[in-house]
This record gives sequence, structure tokens and C-alpha cells, in this order.
Amino acid sequence: MGSPTTPAPDDPQHRPPADDPRLDLVAGSVELRHGRLEFVRPREATALLYEEDVAADQAYPPYWAEVWPSGVELAYAVSAREWAGASVLELGCGLGLPAVAAALGGGEVLATDRSPDALAFAAVNAERNGVAIGTAVCSWAEPAPVTEAAPWRLVLAADVLYGQRNIAELLALLPRLVDDGGEVWIADPQRPLAGEFLAAARRDWDTVTTAATRDDGVRLHRLAAPRTNLR
Ligand SMILES: C[S@@+](CC[C@H](N)C(=O)[O-])C[C@H]1O[C@@H](n2cnc3c(N)ncnc32)[C@H](O)[C@@H]1O
Repeated sequence: MGSPTTPAPDDPQHRPPADDPRLDLVAGSVELRHGRLEFVRPREATALLYEEDVAADQAYPPYWAEVWPSGVELAYAVSAREWAGASVLELGCGLGLPAVAAALGGGEVLATDRSPDALAFAAVNAERNGVAIGTAVCSWAEPAPVTEAAPWRLVLAADVLYGQRNIAELLALLPRLVDDGGEVWIADPQRPLAGEFLAAARRDWDTVTTAATRDDGVRLHRLAAPRTNLR
């Protein structure tokens, strides 16, 4: 029997700190119109559900750490055009694939998310592709960091049309981000609330179009010309 003052090896109080799952990375790449985009992501998004994140991420799961089909398709759509000198904003950027694609196309890009960890990954992913992007923590309920820099030429968002609160916040925010010279591109995997979002957007915007993408499950919605009474 050991001395009462000697901790047993399995004593949780004396266990070394667990490895940070944000640093257990895997690399991947996605095809763009011209070339490939390289990225890293945490190996296991669910491993990121650690307690400290509850405050930072407002108790929401770490969705930012996944590669979502909508982000892949939005990056591809962005890469089909040149964005030289254009101001580009990504909302809810997660790993930042569309933001990086816009920077590769010459855009001046700000990637935003409510999760600071997401922004760290988006910036590193830009570096891996030889481009630089700006990053800013921004929650859609407190959007000063992005409204103050409006109007944007292009506003991007992938897989954000979930949750009634997200829909309400985005409907209020998006018309404040572009003027008649700008567009909003939202890629969506046909989430249940997308129809409600689009119906409201048709009331608030002069132009709302939807296009197929390479992925049968993902649609690309484009909003342009916000009605002036919302500004
Ligand atoms: C389903 S993930 C999509 C991530 C990325 N756009 C993609 O397609 O790979 C939703 C993202 O939106 C962010 N998000 C959700 N609600 C938000 C809010 N109210 N304000 C800012 N970001 C938010 C999350 O942190 C997460 O990164």
C-alpha cells in the first residue's frame, strides 16, 4: 500500500493536462476552378467540446471545425471569378475555405466568426495557400465589426441557415452590408429553414436567385439590391 501523500498514477488531480484537441490536426484539400486549396482542420470536432469553449462559443457545438459541403461549394463558386481589389466579407467562416478562395482571386478579405478558434484556422489556411486575410470575431447579434466597414462588394456565408435565431439575425444584418454594387452569396445544404429565409429575403431584396452546385445537395443563393427602406 502506498503512502497517503503519494498520488496514485491515476489520480485525476495529478494527471498531466490532456493534449489540446485543437492541435491534433489533419490536412486536406479541395478542388477550385483553377488549382487546389489546401487546409488543415482539427481531427475530431467533437473533441473540442471542452468546458472553456462554452463561454467563447455561447454553448453552441464547434460546428466551425468541420468541412461542410456548402463551404466547399461556395469556395468553388468564388474561384470561378476574379475578385481583384474587391472587398469580400465571410460570415460564419469556420475553416474559411470561401474566404481563402476569394483571397486567391485577388480579393481583400475579412473572415469572421463568433469563434476565435475558427478565425485562427481560417488565417492559417490562408497562409498555407500563400495569401493573407483579415479576421475578426463577429457575432451576428453584435455586428459592428462588419457594418462599420460596409458596403462590401461580396458577402459570403456557407451553411448558416439553421436555427430561428440565425435566420432572424441574418435577415436583419445582410441588407446593412451591401449597397447596389454588392452581392450576398449563401451556400446552403437545403436546411429546413432555408425556405423561410428565402421568402423573407424576396421581400427585402430586389434580386434573389438560386443556382445548383456540383453537389446535388447544395444550393447557391445570391441576393442583390437590398430595398432601401431597410438601411
Ligand atoms: C455549420 S458551420 C459552417 C462553417 C463554414 N461556413 C463551412 O461551411 O464550412 C456554421 C458556422 O457559423 C458560425 N456561426 C453560427 N452562428 C453564428 C452567429 N450568430 N454569429 C457568428 N457566427 C456564427 C459558427 O461558429 C460556424 O463556424
